[in-house]
Amino acid sequence: MPTGAEHSRIEGLPFILGAHAFWGLMPLYLVLVKEVPPIEFVAWRILFTLPLCLAILAIRKQGAEIFRALSDRRTILALLASSAMIGINWVLYVVAIQTDHVYAASLGYYILPLTMMLLGMLVLGERMSTLQWGAVALAAVGVALLAAGALAAPTKSDLQQRDIVLVTDVTLRAALNALLADQSWTAKAPALLVFCGNNRRQRRLHELRGRPFANDHLDAFFNAAVDAGIALASYVTAAETMGLGCCPISALRNDAEEVSRLLGLPDHVFPLAGLAVGWPVREAVVTPRLPLAVTLHEDRYGEEGLDTAIADYDRQRPYDAQRYVEDFGEDPDYGWSEDKARQYAKPERAGFGAFVRRKGFCLD
Ligand SMILES: Cc1cc2nc3c(=O)[nH]c(=O)nc-3n(C[C@H](O)[C@H](O)[C@H](O)COP(=O)(O)O)c2cc1C
Repeated sequence: MPTGAEHSRIEGLPFILGAHAFWGLMPLYLVLVKEVPPIEFVAWRILFTLPLCLAILAIRKQGAEIFRALSDRRTILALLASSAMIGINWVLYVVAIQTDHVYAASLGYYILPLTMMLLGMLVLGERMSTLQWGAVALAAVGVALLAAGALAAPTKSDLQQRDIVLVTDVTLRAALNALLADQSWTAKAPALLVFCGNNRRQRRLHELRGRPFANDHLDAFFNAAVDAGIALASYVTAAETMGLGCCPISALRNDAEEVSRLLGLPDHVFPLAGLAVGWPVREAVVTPRLPLAVTLHEDRYGEEGLDTAIADYDRQRPYDAQRYVEDFGEDPDYGWSEDKARQYAKPERAGFGAFVRRKGFCLD
């Protein structure tokens, strides 16, 4: 027997489906009235919605409830706040459609359940049922669509030596989160993907076609890693174009063996990096990079003026927090070079070569 809450949830389903279908078809109409400014469009929408809502209230005989609500200051304030938010939402939606960002707006609605889930968990402390996690997985399919774009990116000799594993299984995600415990923010990302280098398929081609694989050396690993990196970068570009935020996670390789076991990666397939995808908390800023004078070379590689350029660059890159203060102390002139020198003063993933060899690669 469904409980009262389950009843209202079941009864609410057609309304949710109806609302999403309506929002999905709305762009067709909005394109027809493209000349109407967004604010005016929303104003008309409010104006026409009001009599409709009043009629519904009259039919449902809810007039008294409305008067009760309108006589309560707290309810009025809450209604004002939610009306302002939905108003902003409508205007943004209309602007998005009118400026040809239909795909981005749709993806926004598609990812809505992920955001609602996250808010429910973080703000209201709600716990998710298996069914709800299933719904989240469905929304994650929208994120997965971007993978098609990333996998269309160029690859070395069209060998296509890269794959993406989209993590949707709750237990698997929890296990990966646990491996990334010192980067706890990753657990909050709505979607996690793992970009892998894959030289295995190529070797299979040689078996299928009866040809010797005569390139069993470092280049085989290197090409697969580069292909995976290109796919990763392409994914980030596509996702950011749609207003999503991404952060690659090479820390996933800290325990490459375990990641490989969890994802069932066979020989000659290895994890390159994870990619956390979600909504950015704030607008991304482009970090200033080293000047082109030291990174763009004309005809011949050169290092003239490198040390001065690094010192100048350090001054443009102040850090909020210093790395490994317990080992290296506080540095009043802390900048990019000190941060990077401190980072690599400690061993990172020293066992990765051995892992890659165990995966069957020859690194000579
Ligand atoms: C290949 C790659 C691996 C990364 N791995 C991690 C990681 O393990 N943990 C992390 O917090 N950030 C990681 N990042 C994010 C970067 O440290 C950096 O925050 C991000 O690229 C944005 O930096 P920017 O401000 O320099 O553009 C990685 C970035 C890239 C491109």
